[in-house]
Amino acid sequence: MNGIHILKKAQKGKYAVGQFNVSTDEHIKAIIIAAKDLKSPVIIGTSEGERKFIGTKQAAALVEVWQKEAGLPIILNADHCKTFESVKQAVDAGYSAVHFDGSVLSFEENVKVTKQVVDYAKKKNPELLVEGELGYLRGESVVHKKIKVKPKDLTSPEQAKEFIEKTGVDSLAIVVGNIHGVETKSDLGTDMKNPPLYLDKLREIQQAIPKTFLVLHGGSGTPDEDIKKAIKLGIVKININTELRIAYSEELEETIKEHPEEIKPYKILAPAVEAMKEVVEEKIDLFGSKGKI
Ligand code: 13P
Repeated sequence: MNGIHILKKAQKGKYAVGQFNVSTDEHIKAIIIAAKDLKSPVIIGTSEGERKFIGTKQAAALVEVWQKEAGLPIILNADHCKTFESVKQAVDAGYSAVHFDGSVLSFEENVKVTKQVVDYAKKKNPELLVEGELGYLRGESVVHKKIKVKPKDLTSPEQAKEFIEKTGVDSLAIVVGNIHGVETKSDLGTDMKNPPLYLDKLREIQQAIPKTFLVLHGGSGTPDEDIKKAIKLGIVKININTELRIAYSEELEETIKEHPEEIKPYKILAPAVEAMKEVVEEKIDLFGSKGKI
């Protein structure tokens, strides 16, 4: 089953498929085991930095092996590619989805490069899922202090329509109050409660481009109620990274503190993988993709 088919099914069934970002092969394992246990389709994502660490061809090969073994619908997405070259590298390595993020470019330039990306990807593989981005998404996948979303950051429904017509992307990453990362309200720890989404804006965008797969980046820390409403309003793919990073690194730190004598990597890493898996399971449940394979 290809990515377009997986998201079409989600659009029809009114649920969302999670994209979970990875840096290492044990992260892939945590996500795929969670998806397998819950019989859910899943998307593995790698940003340019994550891809540089794990290796582009290596990530594609690992996911292919897991896909055969788990027998699940799994998409591998090159998240936030900033250049055509970066997209090309992922497509050539066998990724099943690419996301070109031209949001820092002018609208015209974003359209131009995104169209080039669509042409290249679809020529190589017509079933490859291509995502574009419109609007200014603040933050990065870390814990940070307050981030203020400004009205001009939000995706314009009119521009979205023009963008889809001119580029032919399958999916669109939109900005409706979402941010990358989670906010901490004090120095005492992570609050995990990001500001609410502008759901009216999401409704307008969905009405302007009803066939396009709508993508919510910055899923970490978004209130559960907003996630549920966003799915009802047409979001079919939700990206999660920071919450996985927090679960993994906090558990790793804890294990090393509690067992300073342990040197077997598979013992040190196992609880962190389990912590990551638990977050993935919670999100799959929240997104409604459980049992949808
Ligand atoms: P978070 O780190 O906020 O979950 O965002 C992840 C993301 O959008 C990856 O593209």
